[in-house]
Amino acid sequence: MRVRVTPDGVVGGSASVPGDKSIAHRWLLLAAIADGRSELAGLPPALDVASTALACAALVGAGAEAAEAWGRSVWSGDADQHDGPLVVEGAGRMQLRSPGGTIDCGNSGTTMRLLAGVLAASRVEAVMDGDESLRARPMERVAEPLRRMGAHVDTVDGHAPMRVKGAELTGIRHESPVPSAQVKGAVLLAGIGAHGGTEVVERVRTRDHTERALRALGGPVTEPPGEDATEFSVAVDRFDVPAFSARVPGDLSSAAYLAGAALVTGGTLVVEQVGGNPTRSRFLDVLARMGALSELGEDREELGEPLGRLHVEPRGLQGTVVVREELPLIIDEVPLLAAVAAHADGETRFEGAGELRVKESDRLVGIRDLLRGLGGQAAIEGDALIVGGGGLRGGTADSNGDHRMAMAAVVAALAAERPSEIGGAEAAAVSFPGFTATMLDLGAVLEVLG
Ligand code: S3P
Repeated sequence: MRVRVTPDGVVGGSASVPGDKSIAHRWLLLAAIADGRSELAGLPPALDVASTALACAALVGAGAEAAEAWGRSVWSGDADQHDGPLVVEGAGRMQLRSPGGTIDCGNSGTTMRLLAGVLAASRVEAVMDGDESLRARPMERVAEPLRRMGAHVDTVDGHAPMRVKGAELTGIRHESPVPSAQVKGAVLLAGIGAHGGTEVVERVRTRDHTERALRALGGPVTEPPGEDATEFSVAVDRFDVPAFSARVPGDLSSAAYLAGAALVTGGTLVVEQVGGNPTRSRFLDVLARMGALSELGEDREELGEPLGRLHVEPRGLQGTVVVREELPLIIDEVPLLAAVAAHADGETRFEGAGELRVKESDRLVGIRDLLRGLGGQAAIEGDALIVGGGGLRGGTADSNGDHRMAMAAVVAALAAERPSEIGGAEAAAVSFPGFTATMLDLGAVLEVLG
């Protein structure tokens, strides 16, 4: 799908966003291994989340027929947000059944990596595969610790397809060489089925949705003191997940793209019912350093996750420096922040951004090419991304099938000097179904060219 973006509108007003993709994956998997009837509302009809719902259905069987029907309807394009609630009737991790065939994780790295942790502690043997993008992404980072716990895990030269055969696991202490919430999540999900404690040590803190959910469900989650101030630890013990019901908060990473659109076009925006987890909101600090005014109010909690209202107001934007330690906390918002930075005064540097090379596409190269295609300046120096400010002339860009790149390109183009055309805009549905419609509602001037 090509979209023509005309830089005429001011994006602003009040919006809501689909449920949080990261949280939805985890709660679906927890519902699949819980003992009893769980109810999940607010699931986003995002392709990635549908991949997890279908994987759960394949492993749970009759108790997850609703998840299967919903997952299929998302993939066929006729599902609404599962305001729900979606019911999953689990019978515990040990009752998962062997799937009929390969589990298709689609484009979703989170599905494949977290599910590997669940399978490792089960009695099931399963093969997980995905699309071309997912097959190119590194899987040893999750296979290695799971093997050390006792599971049988095979990859193809470190990539999908990945075969996991569950076993009696023993807890480990894992210090991940890459800061990754997916690796941490997989090890913790395996850890709750292991004998003895499991600890994950991070040098840079990553999103903490798995540990929050486990704690909210009454799980034995602790934070042992690190050896020094730069070490963060989380530990779990064996735990049987009880059934639960919850509503998934709105996705703050999706809201970020709307906020960016408001900031570059001079609009004021409010997003209601959005997740406010501090391990996800760091991009607001970066935007604040650039001059934007934002507020993330907290109304209540849902299964350990804060939920509230995001308010952003534009001011003059200046370039900034994002340091290496900050990068994992804004990992999904770098494309957006780069799009905003292109419209700021002065240069913006993103240090330690090498991990962007192994996302749904090589986002380091993708962002540089996208901004250049839209008539701006960007460069890669080692693992740093440098974005020249001063605005964009307008031009053409392509998502390369990557959802966040599709949204970043639209945001960047909204404030260019002349109209732009963005290819592969349909990719946004991987995390933000309805992105184009929401932008139109908020005042963006977009035309779908087909
Ligand atoms: C995610 C973690 C991040 C993020 C991804 C979702 C998660 O990946 O980029 O979109 O839900 O745990 P890494 O853990 O590989 O950094």
